Amino acid sequence: MKILGIETSCDETAAAVVENGKNILSNSIFSQIIKHKPFGGVVPEIASRNHVVKLPEIVNSALVESKTDLKQIDAIAVTYGPGLGSSLVVGYSYAKSLSKRLNIPLIGVNHHAGHLYSVFMNEKKYNFVDFFPMISLMVSGGDTSIVLMKNICEYRIIGTTIDDAAGEALDKAANILGLGYPGGPVIQKISEGANENFIKFPIGLKNKSRSNWSYEYNRNYCFSFSGLKTSLLTKIQNYENQIPNNELNDVAASFQRAVVDSLLDRLANALSDHNVKSFSCSGGVSLNKVLRYELKNFSEKISLPLLLSPASLCTDNAAMIAGVAYELIRNKYTFNPDDICPSLRLIDWNKLKN
Ligand code: KG4
Repeated sequence: MKILGIETSCDETAAAVVENGKNILSNSIFSQIIKHKPFGGVVPEIASRNHVVKLPEIVNSALVESKTDLKQIDAIAVTYGPGLGSSLVVGYSYAKSLSKRLNIPLIGVNHHAGHLYSVFMNEKKYNFVDFFPMISLMVSGGDTSIVLMKNICEYRIIGTTIDDAAGEALDKAANILGLGYPGGPVIQKISEGANENFIKFPIGLKNKSRSNWSYEYNRNYCFSFSGLKTSLLTKIQNYENQIPNNELNDVAASFQRAVVDSLLDRLANALSDHNVKSFSCSGGVSLNKVLRYELKNFSEKISLPLLLSPASLCTDNAAMIAGVAYELIRNKYTFNPDDICPSLRLIDWNKLKN
């Protein structure tokens, strides 16, 4: 089964052709980073205009690269949320009209389900059973959550961020430090070889607590990055808003260390409370070298298999969207959304039937 995936939830215009959920025949992405850089973050209006201009070209390049004719496409998968409304609507409208024209199914996919699925796209085995139950750390620019996956279609968020996402914290820190956008890669770059113990930044919610403030999430698996951000701001103010050049790399490295430690600390809590067969990490921040290194060490230490998204699938892409659609179809959960849903939450697939 060949599925054409379309993804326009934020500032990447992406299309991919994927066969049987894993065989990525093409994965075309137009990154708009350069367009948003001058503004220090994604400007929704600019993102949506660029999707309108670029999407037909990107879809065409995905078809050409995969040597697939539109007539050979069995279904169209599209991200319908969460994301920027003005961006989502471009991909959704395009996918909907194409599916009508070709008279093939349109499958709505949750963007976060795509990130969760991306870790399996490297696995040649089609039998996921070996990996479940699994704890999954999803760490991107828009969300940071810990998900307990019973199987490929049954999952529950057990912890999430109560303020910023990890990627958002890195992007804001880079902005404060005058390093530009996006923050994660530039902070990683200048942190190489620097002293990550230069400043001991606070780790949000680090102290374990038996009391819980949410019926839905366990406090010990939740994240908070706003205190970390404020701490950085205070340090900068102490320097009268100008960090000396010879200290900039050490400050960035210390900040990155605090983000990584925070992710590992919460993940360790979740893993120690659940008897799982594996754990995984996906999303844009999972590209981070320090995080990947620490996760691999941790996996060895606790003798639990770790699945990481391949680098090409960490940030937003349409291959993971087509992959999820294949699993939805295979498990008879096909879902044709009436509209986009910018605040869509990650839900158990069983609820799609209601
Ligand atoms: O997954 P993604 O494309 O966005 C959402 O779906 O929300 O991730 C983008 C985020 C940005 O915040 C960016 O700074 C971060 O991923 N990022 C990184 C790295 N590369 C991208 N963070 C840390 N280290 C990296 N190497």
